[in-house]
Amino acid sequence: MPKSQEEHAKHWDLRDEDFNDNDLLYDVYDVMRAKSSFAYTEKPFLTPDAGGSWVAVSYSACAAILKDWEHFSSNPTPEGAEQLPGDIVITLDPPRQQKFRKVLNPYFSPGRMQQLQPEIRSETDILIDEFIESGAGDLAEVAWRQPGIVFFKYVLGMPIEDVPLCIELTDTALNGTTEDARSAAWGGLYQHLTDAVVAHSEGPPADDMIDVLLNAEIDGQKLAFQDVVGNAMLLVQAGLETTANAMSFAFHYLAKHPDERDRLIREPEIMPYAVEEFIRFAGSIHGIPRTVTGDVEVDGHTFRPGESVQVNYASANRDAAEFPQAERCVLDRRQNRHLGFGAGVHRCLGSNLARLEFRLGLEQVLARIPDFTLATDAQAKFHGNSVTRGFRTVPVTFTPGKLSD
Ligand code: HEM
Repeated sequence: MPKSQEEHAKHWDLRDEDFNDNDLLYDVYDVMRAKSSFAYTEKPFLTPDAGGSWVAVSYSACAAILKDWEHFSSNPTPEGAEQLPGDIVITLDPPRQQKFRKVLNPYFSPGRMQQLQPEIRSETDILIDEFIESGAGDLAEVAWRQPGIVFFKYVLGMPIEDVPLCIELTDTALNGTTEDARSAAWGGLYQHLTDAVVAHSEGPPADDMIDVLLNAEIDGQKLAFQDVVGNAMLLVQAGLETTANAMSFAFHYLAKHPDERDRLIREPEIMPYAVEEFIRFAGSIHGIPRTVTGDVEVDGHTFRPGESVQVNYASANRDAAEFPQAERCVLDRRQNRHLGFGAGVHRCLGSNLARLEFRLGLEQVLARIPDFTLATDAQAKFHGNSVTRGFRTVPVTFTPGKLSD
């Protein structure tokens, strides 16, 4: 018997089986926000041995926390950064975190990412070619495989033959059904990335992210080997599933709403707004933690040092106090200061890449199979883990088309 919204709001647990799609979950967020900017959950987050934590659910609270890194540290043990296995940008605080960003930002600039446009378009086409002649296919395959191929092949410059295995390992690491399967997959991925870093350090210069990390100097010192591998691992965690989930949601939404699909074809100029709106509406992350470093008040609530707060970007992005008609996906929403990519010093490093992959995925599918609708003989499958949520299959049918040139 599913629990009531009230019950869920009191004991919020993203892994609860009632949240088998997004509908109930966002209703529960509405209940939580109506009560307060913060809820408390005793359910551990990310790791089974973590204790309970506060959850920031309103737009104002999430934005305030993200902008106040001095009181809300990204380091799980801010009083002892050395306890972490290495320097990984998402768990550091300024000033060291900013030095990492200075190294990484130029690679992910809009101009640099734009240079990948032909490759991303062509990789997307190859994925569509796998089913276009049959008149039926799974658009989640495009959403899931395209960001992985782009990332491992072009951003990390890994050997082409390793790419399918790396994508599979990433998926198992994040979504494997047992703890053992997940940690074995993390181990496999770590080994592949270690091998790639060794190969890069011994080979000729390459124009990719591993070389950027290998050549980086922070405070006059090269990065430690483990930090190069660690940050490459972070990029895998941060950049693949997030983009895949947002894109798979968009394909599902457009397949279910043919009038919206046709509008996007008819009015290509609204595409950039549509990409942002899909990220606001259903493509956002449901929680990343901060640790309180000193007494601080936000929205009338006083936090104490050592407390943990999860920033729920997804809930903030449905807050009617910030977004008129927050519960509707409005493809050409103009005022859209969503927190999907975060805010403040840790604002998403890969947002330019994510937007590009997302736009090109949508453009190629809309151009090549414009009349796709949800298949009637197969169900779309939804999946969520403790950070992101989206469709694992989006079966569609359409008028068969031709292979790309
Ligand atoms: C739709 C897709 C994406 C979404 C929704 C998303 C969301 C986010 C969010 C909310 C943060 C802030 C985390 C925080 O406040 O602690 C973040 C940070 C980050 N993202 Fe993304 N992201 C996406 C795609 C990507 C991609 C494609 C990459 C790289 C390939 C990437 C790399 C990163 C990194 C490295 C950080 C940490 C930055 C730092 O700590 O300074 N993300 N992302």
